[in-house]
Amino acid sequence: MVKICGIGAGYVGGPTMAVIALKCPSIEVAVVDISHSRISAWNSEKLPIYEPGLEEVVKQCRGKNLLFSTDVEKHIFEADIIFVSVNTPTKSSGLGAGKAADLTYWESAARMVADMSKSDKIIVEKSTVPVRTAEAIEKILTHNSSKGVKFQILSNPEFLSEGTAIQDLINPDRVLIGGREGPEGHEAVLKLKGIYDHWVPEDKIITTNLWSAELSKLADNAFLAQRISSINAMSALCEVTGAEISQLSDALSKNTKIGPKFLNASVGFGGSCFQKDILNLVYICESNGLIEVANYWKQVIKVNDYQKSRFVNRVVSSMFNTVSGKKIAVLGFAFKKDTSDTRKTPAIDVCKGLLGDNACLSIYDPRVSKDQIHKDLSMDSEVKHVSIVSDAYEATKDAHGICILTEWDEFKTLDYQRVFENMQKPAFVFDGRNILNVDKLTKIGFIVYSIGRPLHQWMNNIHQP
Ligand code: NAD
Ligand code: UGA
Repeated sequence: MVKICGIGAGYVGGPTMAVIALKCPSIEVAVVDISHSRISAWNSEKLPIYEPGLEEVVKQCRGKNLLFSTDVEKHIFEADIIFVSVNTPTKSSGLGAGKAADLTYWESAARMVADMSKSDKIIVEKSTVPVRTAEAIEKILTHNSSKGVKFQILSNPEFLSEGTAIQDLINPDRVLIGGREGPEGHEAVLKLKGIYDHWVPEDKIITTNLWSAELSKLADNAFLAQRISSINAMSALCEVTGAEISQLSDALSKNTKIGPKFLNASVGFGGSCFQKDILNLVYICESNGLIEVANYWKQVIKVNDYQKSRFVNRVVSSMFNTVSGKKIAVLGFAFKKDTSDTRKTPAIDVCKGLLGDNACLSIYDPRVSKDQIHKDLSMDSEVKHVSIVSDAYEATKDAHGICILTEWDEFKTLDYQRVFENMQKPAFVFDGRNILNVDKLTKIGFIVYSIGRPLHQWMNNIHQP
């Protein structure tokens, strides 16, 4: 029986390993993590992350061929194949701070693998890493492992999106496997391919060299983020010209050379990866003297920052140039719908921007916990101006304005007549996700701002800084 060990039980490691266990009943999958609280949550009724369909998959396999443990050493020792899905955040200090990937967690996982291995193993990079990381990992493994143990490193980047992770894993666009040239590398690639063969059609499994696989993942996220910054840049132009961003997106999407996805204008992209992976790419380019290439990708992040601050400025300038002491309802805090994840959510920057102008925020998100929001907005002096409530009607009661920051479905179907009646007047709605019916809300009496739509005459004459 093949044994797999997944190191890192986070948003990638947990769902990915659970789907492998589901699709390969003859494979034993152990998911290990240094975080005791995470592992005990994986073993409980309330999983550590919210992801549609995940609970069903875990319940089906846990205790059969899927287990969660903190005994990292034992499961490394026993495994034939080790998937490493540890976090690779942006370095916060030292060389490359603010840009380069922090590989501390990766290195410590590799050292544990080197220490504990007494038999040959395949090591699979699932985490997103700088191109040529496999080379460094090989060095750690070969210089530290007991004599005679052989390792093959493969790059098998993960392309799942949060909120649709299970769907993405069960029916991926493609699976990418990069390996070393030569017979041993080839054999390792075939072994990993053999796992995916259980459920992924052959033509969707692409094999490449190690460096192409590693760089493809960074390029993939950079291209996706670039599309969002492109459409967001257009949204600013739409607002001042009378064009409508949804009509523009629709027209663009019908061009088969462009396609329909990732053309939704928004208050800005969030999530743990887009910014970190672009910064990482920028750092690699700069380190290789490719300054123009680095500057090109930097601009994607600059436009994203611009979009967030543009939104805050719009709110403040529309409300008589001050939100001081005004109650603003924030609907949605997660970085996208159907997840409880708040990492790099645009809501953090927007809330901090509004708090900077002394607003009083009443925040509601269907999935994000109170503690998490407090942690994310940990600005001692301002936190007293933040209340976190458990429904949208409570959040909007007596509010001067509403900011929609996550596209949760329930925000589309609120009783906006009731919401309007309970708000201060004039009542403003700032839709950062373009999910509301502007005409309907305007008829009710709201002054509505929706990203990339022609401006309401209220805002038309207000100069935006
Ligand atoms: P995460 O922070 O949710 O999970 C990482 C886990 O690794 C944590 O639970 C941490 O405790 C554990 N860990 C760290 N060092 C360890 C060690 N030495 N031994 C055992 N466990 C250790 O991160 P994530 O969102 O799952 O992302 C993981 C990687 O996957 C990142 O490189 C990310 O860029 C990439 N990725 C993420 C997504 C996503 O949607 N979140 C999608 C594709 C790729
Ligand atoms: C993204 C990629 O889509 C995945 O392919 C990749 O595996 C993953 O990052 C990763 O490496 O972590 P994810 O961040 O989970 O997935 O979610 P997305 O659906 O890509 O959304 C990212 C952000 O962009 C969200 O804040 C979302 O609201 C925003 N977005 C997305 C837009 O503003 N407009 C769009 O058209 C699409």
